[in-house]
Amino acid sequence: MVSHPGMRSEKNAGKEGSRRRVPALAFYGYLNRYRTVFVPSLIALFVTAGLSLAFPYYLSKLIGSPTGSPLEMLNSTASPDVSVIRSNINQTVITLLAILALQAFIAYWRVRGFIKAGESALNDIRVDVFSRLVRLPLEFFQGHRAGELSNRVSADLAVLRETLLTTVPQLARQSVILVGGLIFIFVMSWKLSLFMLAMIPVVILAVALFGRRVRAYSNQAQDSLAASGVVLEESTQGIAELKAYSNESHERRRYSDALEDYLLVVNRGARVRALFVSFIIFVLLGSISVVAWFGAGMLVREEITPFEFTAFILFSVFVGASLGAFPEIVSQIQKANGATERLREIMAEDPEEEGTGDVPFEVLGTVEAQNLSFAYPSRPEKVVLDGVSFKVENGERIAFVGSSGAGKSTLFSLLLRFYEPQDGAVLIDGDPAAELPLAALRGAMALVPQDVLLFGGSVGENIRYGSWDASQEQVEEAARKAHAHEFITEFPEGYNTMVGPRGVKLSGGQRQRIAIARAILADPKILLLDEATSSLDSESERLVQEALDELMKGRTSLIIAHRLGTVRDADRIHVLQGGRIVETGTHGELIDAGGTYRLLAETQFL
Ligand SMILES: Nc1ncnc2c1ncn2[C@@H]1O[C@H](COP(=O)(O)OP(=O)(O)OP(=O)(O)O)[C@@H](O)[C@H]1O
Ligand SMILES: [Mg+2]
Repeated sequence: MVSHPGMRSEKNAGKEGSRRRVPALAFYGYLNRYRTVFVPSLIALFVTAGLSLAFPYYLSKLIGSPTGSPLEMLNSTASPDVSVIRSNINQTVITLLAILALQAFIAYWRVRGFIKAGESALNDIRVDVFSRLVRLPLEFFQGHRAGELSNRVSADLAVLRETLLTTVPQLARQSVILVGGLIFIFVMSWKLSLFMLAMIPVVILAVALFGRRVRAYSNQAQDSLAASGVVLEESTQGIAELKAYSNESHERRRYSDALEDYLLVVNRGARVRALFVSFIIFVLLGSISVVAWFGAGMLVREEITPFEFTAFILFSVFVGASLGAFPEIVSQIQKANGATERLREIMAEDPEEEGTGDVPFEVLGTVEAQNLSFAYPSRPEKVVLDGVSFKVENGERIAFVGSSGAGKSTLFSLLLRFYEPQDGAVLIDGDPAAELPLAALRGAMALVPQDVLLFGGSVGENIRYGSWDASQEQVEEAARKAHAHEFITEFPEGYNTMVGPRGVKLSGGQRQRIAIARAILADPKILLLDEATSSLDSESERLVQEALDELMKGRTSLIIAHRLGTVRDADRIHVLQGGRIVETGTHGELIDAGGTYRLLAETQFL
């Protein structure tokens, strides 16, 4: 018995070490790739934001200018030249309109640029998250329910999208207006400005206080919304079972329960948020009123001019509005941080170890299991495999039989290195499989699984899955050998017929033959065949059996068998029971021995 105590600890140490922290700003870094579009758009945004300050400026000029405005007419005792005033106000409005036109023109390009850069960066993020996700070990997926992960990822990406496309531009824009506006009001009247600024700390404090709580609630809300998404996904995926058991109202209840939870969380958060909003409204508008009152006093004492006063008030409204927008911006950014936290968790998870061998290597086809012991990480207390050892020489055909739950499929998962055994090792051609490059190891094997899942795409693509450079002739040749060609050509669109979740529904036997064709085309050294337990009618069974015989020719074949036809010709049969190999021999030997195998064979319960 060879075990590798050193190997495991080394690997674990490596795992700890390679766990990286992905900083929150990493996602904004994606924008950097599109800086040629993003940076000009950002500059344009600053320009338009600055230009938007022209609006209150010219408006004040129109109303409150000491000369050349209607105010002069009201004030002066001598009658002023009306035509001068008229041309003055015309000029002011024309300048304002010209600035607005310029602003509109720049805004057009800015919006387009932002969307282009933002969506491109988001696509990169989506692709990166996806490619990371599919590289994660199976163990990671076991910890999550089917729909939960995909819902979580898409919900988080949606938040990120909102942030990149709306909040980031908002932040830049409001900052410019805030800073520009403040500078302006200081120029108009520092005294009045200081008076106004005295109000600001109250607002800042409120943002800090409320912000944290709003963030906590929106995280919770996101989670419970994802939970309801899981129900939706499970129900649509299992729609046939759902209907067969008339579970429509049961699922509806499950769905509405989940949504109820969501509503509860949202409502709790709504209280904080609503309080925040009304607080801001009152404080902001209230302080502007107080400032106006104070300013009016200064106007009476002639400490400021009517123009300064008007400009001050208008700018204060602008500054106040942008200040009022900040809580929303902050909470959105906090939300995005919460969302990216989970995306970052995925990015920080260790992908499967690809193995070290960069030497190109050829698998001959000897498979050996040495004292394999294994429990699923999700159920560490249940030993599924308990000291399993066997050896398959190149070109041999070995069958595994045993009752349901004996650990047969699990054994295959270990051979494919979907999981690492807690003890023992798998050897390929005498070398520990754990040291072989993962792609080479899996490339040398083909798995025909117990239930075949077809991917969205054509029949041809599904056969080609794994051998993408195969020609159409090779695909058809493989399909012919797998007895799949006949039924495929009966479809009006032949090999281009769409299958998978959105395509034609194929029967179990048909799907199996597609999987067999896929394996024939892949031409692996080692074949792992997990026979379907569902019984086929005798004609389908004969076709599948013939297809399998064709497939197993000349390769190392490990078969989990449920049919006598498959085991009869096997070089050796291992009987698995409760995670142990209890009997080994040929069909004849085991029948003669009269043990577990004979019992299984007699009841046809392989
Ligand atoms: N992903 C998993 N997480 C936890 N336990 C699992 C997992 N997959 C299988 N098991 C458990 O491991 C045991 C062996 O399962 P396995 O699928 O290997 O059985 P099997 O021999 O292939 O059965 P069958 O003939 O019905 O296909 C079972 O008790 C099963 O509940
Ligand atoms: Mg199984």
